[in-house]
Amino acid sequence: MEAEMICTEPRPLSRNESLVFAVNGERFEIQNIDPSTTLLHFLRSQTPFKSVKLGCGEGGCGACIVLLSKYDPVLKKVEHFTISSCLTLICSINGCSITTSEGLGNSKDGFHPIHQRFAGFHASQCGFCTPGMCMSLFSALVNAEEKQSPEPSPGLSKLTVSEAEKAITGNLCRCTGYRPIADACKSFAYDVDMEDLGFNSFWRKGDTKEVKVSRLPSYSPKEHSCMYPRFLKDNVKSVILLNSRRNSWYAPATIQELLSLLHSDVVQNGTKIKLVVGNTGTGYYKDTEIYDKYIDLRYIPDLSAVRRDNSGFEFGAAVSISKVIFNLKEEQKLNSCLDGNMVFKKIADHMEKVASGFIRNSASLGGNLVMAQRNYFASDITTLLLAVGSSVSILEGHKHEKVTLQEFLSRPPLDSRIVLISVHIPFLEPIRNNDSVETSSGLLFESYRAAARPLGNALPYLNAAFLADVSCNKNGVLVNNIQLAFGAYGTRRATRAREVEEYLAGKTLSVGILNKAVELVKSSVIPEDGTSHAAYRSSLAVSYLFSFLFSFSNSVDYAISDGPFDKTDGILLEEACKRNNDDDHSQIVQPTFLSSANQVVESSREYYPIGESIIKSGSAIQASGEAVYVDDIPSPPNCLHGAFINSTKPLARVKGISFESDSLPNGVTAIISFKDIPEGGENVGSKTVFGFEPLFADDLTRCAGEPIAFVLAETQKYADVAAKMALVDYDTKTIDPPILTVDEAVDRASFFDVPPFLYPEKVGDFVKGMAEADHKILSTEVKLNSQYYFYMETQTALAIPDEDNCMVIYSSIQCPEFLHSVIAKCLGVPEHNIRVITRRVGGGFGGKAIKAMPVATACALAAYKLCRPVRIYLDRKTDMIMAGGRHPMKITYTVGFKSNGKITALHLDILINAGIKPDISPAMPSNILGALKKYDWGALSFDIKVCKTNHPSKSAMRAPGEVQGSFVADAVIENVASVLSMGVDSVRKRNLHTYESLNLFYGSAAGDSIEYTLPTIWDKLARSSSYVDRIAMIEQFNGSHKWRKRGISRVPIVHEVLVRPAPGKVSILWDGSIVVEVGGIELGQGLWTKVKQMTAYALSTIQCDGSENLVEKVRVIQSDTLSLIQGGFTAGSTTSESSCEAVRLCCNVLVERLAPLKKQLQEQMDFVNWDILILQAHLQAVNLVSSSYYVPESSSIRYLNYGAAVSEVEVNILTGETRILRSDIIYDCGQSMNPAVDLGQIEGAFVQGIGFFMLEEYLTNTEGLVIADSTWTYKIPTIDTIPKQFNVEVLNSGCHKKRVLSSKASGEPPLLLASSVHCATRAAIKEARKQLKSWGSVLDGSDSTFQLEVPATMPVVKKLCGLDTVERYLQSLLTP
Ligand SMILES: Cc1cc2nc3c(=O)[nH]c(=O)nc-3n(C[C@H](O)[C@H](O)[C@H](O)COP(=O)(O)OP(=O)(O)OC[C@H]3O[C@@H](n4cnc5c(N)ncnc54)[C@H](O)[C@@H]3O)c2cc1C
Ligand code: FES
Ligand code: FES
Repeated sequence: MEAEMICTEPRPLSRNESLVFAVNGERFEIQNIDPSTTLLHFLRSQTPFKSVKLGCGEGGCGACIVLLSKYDPVLKKVEHFTISSCLTLICSINGCSITTSEGLGNSKDGFHPIHQRFAGFHASQCGFCTPGMCMSLFSALVNAEEKQSPEPSPGLSKLTVSEAEKAITGNLCRCTGYRPIADACKSFAYDVDMEDLGFNSFWRKGDTKEVKVSRLPSYSPKEHSCMYPRFLKDNVKSVILLNSRRNSWYAPATIQELLSLLHSDVVQNGTKIKLVVGNTGTGYYKDTEIYDKYIDLRYIPDLSAVRRDNSGFEFGAAVSISKVIFNLKEEQKLNSCLDGNMVFKKIADHMEKVASGFIRNSASLGGNLVMAQRNYFASDITTLLLAVGSSVSILEGHKHEKVTLQEFLSRPPLDSRIVLISVHIPFLEPIRNNDSVETSSGLLFESYRAAARPLGNALPYLNAAFLADVSCNKNGVLVNNIQLAFGAYGTRRATRAREVEEYLAGKTLSVGILNKAVELVKSSVIPEDGTSHAAYRSSLAVSYLFSFLFSFSNSVDYAISDGPFDKTDGILLEEACKRNNDDDHSQIVQPTFLSSANQVVESSREYYPIGESIIKSGSAIQASGEAVYVDDIPSPPNCLHGAFINSTKPLARVKGISFESDSLPNGVTAIISFKDIPEGGENVGSKTVFGFEPLFADDLTRCAGEPIAFVLAETQKYADVAAKMALVDYDTKTIDPPILTVDEAVDRASFFDVPPFLYPEKVGDFVKGMAEADHKILSTEVKLNSQYYFYMETQTALAIPDEDNCMVIYSSIQCPEFLHSVIAKCLGVPEHNIRVITRRVGGGFGGKAIKAMPVATACALAAYKLCRPVRIYLDRKTDMIMAGGRHPMKITYTVGFKSNGKITALHLDILINAGIKPDISPAMPSNILGALKKYDWGALSFDIKVCKTNHPSKSAMRAPGEVQGSFVADAVIENVASVLSMGVDSVRKRNLHTYESLNLFYGSAAGDSIEYTLPTIWDKLARSSSYVDRIAMIEQFNGSHKWRKRGISRVPIVHEVLVRPAPGKVSILWDGSIVVEVGGIELGQGLWTKVKQMTAYALSTIQCDGSENLVEKVRVIQSDTLSLIQGGFTAGSTTSESSCEAVRLCCNVLVERLAPLKKQLQEQMDFVNWDILILQAHLQAVNLVSSSYYVPESSSIRYLNYGAAVSEVEVNILTGETRILRSDIIYDCGQSMNPAVDLGQIEGAFVQGIGFFMLEEYLTNTEGLVIADSTWTYKIPTIDTIPKQFNVEVLNSGCHKKRVLSSKASGEPPLLLASSVHCATRAAIKEARKQLKSWGSVLDGSDSTFQLEVPATMPVVKKLCGLDTVERYLQSLLTP
């Protein structure tokens, strides 16, 4: 049969020297550009469109997504898909149209309904991820329109709920916890149940479905469709290829042209060439090489064609992974009963977990295979294709060659001039042998990947694909032939497990055979030395093979009805194959997404508009991308860009810095270090109340990651590349070894002092408490690791020299006031010479408090020295290396308790790893204890040491110390319960505080007895989460499922916060509009929104017409340290309330000043409205500016926050994967100032806590240098890892006299509640261990008193469930 050409890329008709494309409908023609320029860089530096954000530069976060539209001449239509602009090379978009979020809509032309719905569903906090999210959704909407489905109701689209959620799987958000984003997306789906959509500002409870739809910002696909400009449309018939010597970019149209380009004289003379398709490979390999020629392979028909014939699919190597998936799925749709098509479908399904949609849209199949072949990339695709016996065509010189994939992979790494032309995926059919005694035969195919994120955007620990040709005989299932491919497990390339294949071929499956096969596979799949989690990866190979074959093995225990396979009642081949082919049956499909969520908020109108869930200030411009972050401020003329050279040694003398060549690298202007501190200045980079930290290492570097010098270059890229190329000469002779662990710090007595007023007080008499105990647990150790902030916007600053030795610094910082004085001290100038401006911060979480200071100070120093503006936007790697992050610690505890579970005494020895400088670490002991005291320990004593080590100083991260303290408290309770064989929940309950014990432990912070709401929350949560019923259901589930175990846990929290002083300033302008300045910084936490509400409320007490609607008249403006001083830190969850209180004080003064005038006016006219009052006040010279400094009373400075959460998880014993089935939270916000904002804080903090407890490993090497330094190695939660059911109640606990309008904090405490997920995981593992023991396994420790590490990643969970669980189980079946 002649091959059917399914799709080709455009055939070139003409060539052009200049690059032409459109952005948001605007035409761009570029004559000359560096071909390594990315689309992101171009957009951000040469267009006004700043909505594309740089979150990672690796394809791993989605902040930079744009929609690319291009004409397909074969399909004769314009295709639209998302791409990551950070990896796409500008020359590759020739002839395309780019749409960014501003292009969808904006503040001038009107926002797009996507923007409006993101705002209205409260789905944008810091806003840095929001434009990318919007583009992902927009692309899904545009493509849904292509479907042949019936027209949806007005306001909705053809998108389904699951497509809507899937649209954002590759996008990271660190603030919201994803639930509101999912709701905003789902609000467009035609099949959405309006009742399922979460809390929003569009409708009120009780509105009918119709009313709800009508209140959504209207969406019409035609009106809000994608723009593909006329000038590009006119050109579609004459596709113009960019072939530009000037740009060093070539797009050959034929193989011959390619050959002549590859082998022309120009290229032969040592010219560096790069073959390029999607360029996504640079997301991993961070290409810093400069190439002389780029050859774009996408326009050569052989490389871009998709052909299908009887033998299978032939995909051109440049075909995108998305197109491969599409074609394979289409094929399956055409004939779903063929075994071979089932294989195609399963390959496609697996490929959908490769990277994320916006990467797959431009990433090519060939690029993936070449990366695997040449660079040993951990590819999924090679493993899949290896299992099905694919082959590839390659072109070397003029020689075409077709080789099997196996052979291709076994060759030495490809030379850069060898071209992969196409990939053949065979159509597979079972061998039909007429002579065979078998009645029938069939194909079984399955593929596997175990990764931190179920839906992709995470490389797997191990992937595998298995193909078996099986037939049925009287004894069972006979394996005629089997192909087992494994990859990505720490081996150079994907491999076939030949020994296992040979062993299985010709065998009738039985438990005994399988037992031998898993033994063989375990010894075949062995990672290379140095691979992390090696034993885990090998155990996964066993799990996969077991999953694949077990249900077909004879004489099995058919009672198994769970796990990765289904019950097989008898060995009926047809049925077996059918099941293997049918997704719904071959695997128990777990919901991967949020399946339901419920938010309960009670608001109060007592202080209207305080208490209203008004939309977050600025959220629409955040969505459209118009909101200005520091890096969006256009560079002033002559601006330089900085990058740090960081130490890689923990303690060494720095002898010098050099580069490979004698001259400075390309584009570099200067390198500065501590030697460049001006006379009178000091080498300081940050300060806290505990002291200063140096800006640069002096002659000695004291931790890996410490800045040694600062490179200044013409562009950020030049600066970054030069900083990475720098060679630092270290000398460690005669220097003591560094201190890298807390134990070493103890040995060498290396500690920071904790001021006595900060050292927490012991409670009761420990010795007496122990004497009262019936049982004791002695000296048990708990270790906790660090966590990285992962704000989406990395550290950034811009310093602009001003007249008379002054300097203006724009910084993304949580405490501009401190930065201000650090810079003045560093430069040796008076503080009035410095002005620090901060408008908004793209996520902080504590990481932009102290750690933002050296970044901005380095810019200021360079700007001062070079008399030029200097800016910096840290790349993700440097940010991760320098950040420090959460404090790791080691806790050893001794606890005494009664037989009924009541704890009588607890002693803790806590060693905190603080790093090299105090930062805020001396405050850690009181933070830890503040949360640990949530239970009544009887007597509590401790010894806490803040250890000075050679690590970057650890800093505050959301709930610093509190999250660890709260966790340790529960670890103690869990241990006590295990020892007593009691239910953990009842031990918790028994030790919850009474109001009296609360007072004893917390003193005045406990407040009035009525404010102690935890017992009420505890009981209420049990009811609302059906806790008791679910315990019974889980017990039943665990009894009937071997390979999946569930656990549930309820956890309380008590979180103490401190209210700090705060300044405010309110000015009323002529037109009645109001400008507010506060010390607090808008980090995404909604501070500005609450401040606006407070301003409106407090001014409305003047009670004139129109004053009840003042919110719209209020604008909170950027913080400016010369305009409003004493801004302090935005930290500790209370800055919103103190900023509000400061503003209230200002407003009270203004109202007092306005009141006589109002009275006077009222006497003159019947009607005094706000505008008239203010106009008259201006005319009559009433002072309409008021500033204040709120200082809380000492009796109300500290208070307690309460909440509780119930989480239920399911652990897959075969892989170690944990899925959070449901979380229910009740959190007391007092009388919330804005329930939508507080709800966002609760959910966001909880999900960030899930990251800490379950996912995020902030690893360092043996020298303390961070090695989890990218989106590849550091995995924050994504939409597929949050609870599938997520219910939150914002409790309104009424009046709190000493609080600001009865409100309470919400920013940090809910993060602690995420330990409920960890505890539930521990409960599930406990069940798994019980079972393992019943199979005869000897456990390391008992089945119940084990410790579960934080984070409880897949390898950790699997290890506790038993790396040999499969072997044990098979043995148990074989042993009579
Ligand atoms: C964030 C992210 C996550 C990812 N996750 C996964 C994953 O989970 N599993 C997985 O398997 N892969 C994953 N990948 C890899 C991805 O599949 C590859 O990056 C992609 O397929 C490469 O295709 P490309 O067209 O972008 O190649 P390019 O980046 O353009 O090229 C890659 C390399 O191959 C060379 N090359 C390209 N085409 C040819 C050719 N035809 N002949 C000769 N040389 C050629 C180039 O010169 C270059 O050296 C991920 C990538 C990213 C960015
Ligand atoms: S910046 Fe492009 S994906 Fe992160
Ligand atoms: S709102 Fe998503 S990262 Fe901040």
